[in-house]
Amino acid sequence: MRLSSYKPTNAEEIKHLFTRVFSDSEGDSEGLLIGNLAYDLMTETDDNDLYGFITIDDKKIIGSIFFSRLKFENEVNAFLLSPVAIHTQHQGKGIGQDLINFGISHLKENGVTLIFTYGDPDYYSKVGFSPITEKTVKAPFKLSQPEGWLAQSLVSDEIEPITGNSYCVEAFNRPEIW
Ligand SMILES: CC(C)(COP(=O)(O)OP(=O)(O)OC[C@H]1O[C@@H](n2cnc3c(N)ncnc32)[C@H](O)[C@@H]1OP(=O)(O)O)[C@@H](O)C(=O)NCCC(=O)NCCS
Repeated sequence: MRLSSYKPTNAEEIKHLFTRVFSDSEGDSEGLLIGNLAYDLMTETDDNDLYGFITIDDKKIIGSIFFSRLKFENEVNAFLLSPVAIHTQHQGKGIGQDLINFGISHLKENGVTLIFTYGDPDYYSKVGFSPITEKTVKAPFKLSQPEGWLAQSLVSDEIEPITGNSYCVEAFNRPEIW
């Protein structure tokens, strides 16, 4: 198994992986939505605003994760982790946690100080995330599940409050996915 940064030439295979995994776990329409979201991220996001990583096994991409820039009114080097998928047949073996940790250490080496995500608190607490409120840091859109708003600092033990709004990259600029 090999972990690496994704390349633009992987875009179709990665889209297919997200579509398949989310179709398996949440149904075909969610699969299409997340496959297209991953593709939009790869094809429409400025290079400076996106990190993507893959897990390769036997020459096939079996895992993928993206981190896209979250901007604030003051200068904070922050990214949003989303989406992440591990091939259905390879889930539950630690591959997801390895890929998330691989991505996070790469971002840390590149000077990123804060990472956010929006998902299952039980799962993401295994890789360093804690729940935060929107009073501490505002999400870019109104959250349908505020308990899923999570953060981790890569430079301190606490999440300092950030005033003002946050702004996601274009692919996430859709209120219905928040
Ligand atoms: C969520 C996902 C990325 C995790 O990757 P994985 O390789 O299966 O998970 P790991 O083997 O690294 O982690 C296993 C641990 O997380 C827990 N876990 C796995 N998936 C979970 C989930 N969806 N919710 C809560 N806990 C979960 C397991 O119980 C296990 O706990 P343990 O270490 O205490 O035994 C993967 O299962 C997946 O792609 N799921 C479908 C798509 C999805 O939901 N993506 C995340 C939202 S963007």
